[in-house]
Amino acid sequence: MTGSSAFISVRSVSKAFGRFLAIDNVSMDIAQGEFFSLLGASGCGKTTLLRMLAGFESTTRGEIFIDGQPMSPVPPHHRPVNMVFQNYAIFPHLNVRDNIAYGLRKQRLPRARRHEMVEEMLELIKLPGFGTRKANELSGGQRQRIALARALILRPKVLLLDEPLGALDKQLREQMQLELRALQRKVGITFVFVTHDQEEALTLSDRIAVMQGGQVLQVDTPAGLYESPNSRSVASFIGNMNFFRGTVRRNGAANAIIETEGLGAIPVPDSRFARPDGAAVQVALRPEKFAISPTKPDAVHAVQGRLANSAYLGERSHFYITIEGRGEPIAVSAPNHNRFVANAGSHAEDTPLWLSWSSDAIVVLDPE
Ligand SMILES: Nc1ncnc2c1ncn2[C@@H]1O[C@H](COP(=O)(O)OP(=O)(O)O)[C@@H](O)[C@H]1O
Ligand SMILES: [Mg+2]
Repeated sequence: MTGSSAFISVRSVSKAFGRFLAIDNVSMDIAQGEFFSLLGASGCGKTTLLRMLAGFESTTRGEIFIDGQPMSPVPPHHRPVNMVFQNYAIFPHLNVRDNIAYGLRKQRLPRARRHEMVEEMLELIKLPGFGTRKANELSGGQRQRIALARALILRPKVLLLDEPLGALDKQLREQMQLELRALQRKVGITFVFVTHDQEEALTLSDRIAVMQGGQVLQVDTPAGLYESPNSRSVASFIGNMNFFRGTVRRNGAANAIIETEGLGAIPVPDSRFARPDGAAVQVALRPEKFAISPTKPDAVHAVQGRLANSAYLGERSHFYITIEGRGEPIAVSAPNHNRFVANAGSHAEDTPLWLSWSSDAIVVLDPE
């Protein structure tokens, strides 16, 4: 994304708490209307970054621009943002209508207009007629929708959501994810969404910033992160990945060959990869990029191995396969397309089998 289309622009921002650097020189741009997620393990700095966007924390270095305006002189209540927290901050003594209308009270709107706006919101969050319910008569999912409605009624340009679904059980969380995504599309507000759950981030987001130790490792679309991770950290944080040590052999040819530990020599087009002769690399392949067969497949890239372990999971099976030249078994995830896969639960240990892959499934990374 170019700087000019950025609605939120984070420029070389750091945040120190005493001598501890919680955010370390982060830069990123978020477009208007984007569903953008900050994804990373607990403690990586997601909340701190969100709080700096909201203005609850100052930046130690760098600047945040929203809609072209530098935010450091702007106090939280004058920023065009609103925040939704994990623990849904619903007032227990107020009914649903008064909870949703809470932020409107300074706007001196006529009572009828206020009620109308609340009804629109209840419609939007699929809880029509709930206005006079008490907060303690609501389920966790309903409370979270009310918290969303309360933020959305103020029509912020940006909604900041800090693990808003974290307290919900799995089934409700998945349902709320779909509703949240649909809601965001409908209202067109820019969402900056914090989660430590990679599946949640992949499901919801237009783009994701993967964070670690106060730094942003990669910003990309869900498919971009999954198919083209830029580092071992990102590759192993999102989904599962097999890594193979490799060495680049150029021999004057246009395309490089990578000699790998276990997978043999793999040609890699220079368009996707440029490293000098002799460079140490890591070749990465996801478990589902391998095809598995009991006999030698008709494929350019194949290797024979032996079954270490397998598990039948219904729609697919997982296999762990030992190959020569690699200590750790390769993890393979195969869709249940044939008997061989469907019988995963009954194959004997050490059964010989073949793995094949297409060279375009290969990701080449620097060693870490
Ligand atoms: N007010 C604070 N004072 C000192 N350290 C803090 C403060 N807020 C956060 N931190 C530290 O900064 C790091 C990032 O915290 P946080 O942004 O809450 O992470 P996340 O939301 O990704 O779990 C953590 O190590 C945390 O302990
Ligand atoms: Mg947090």
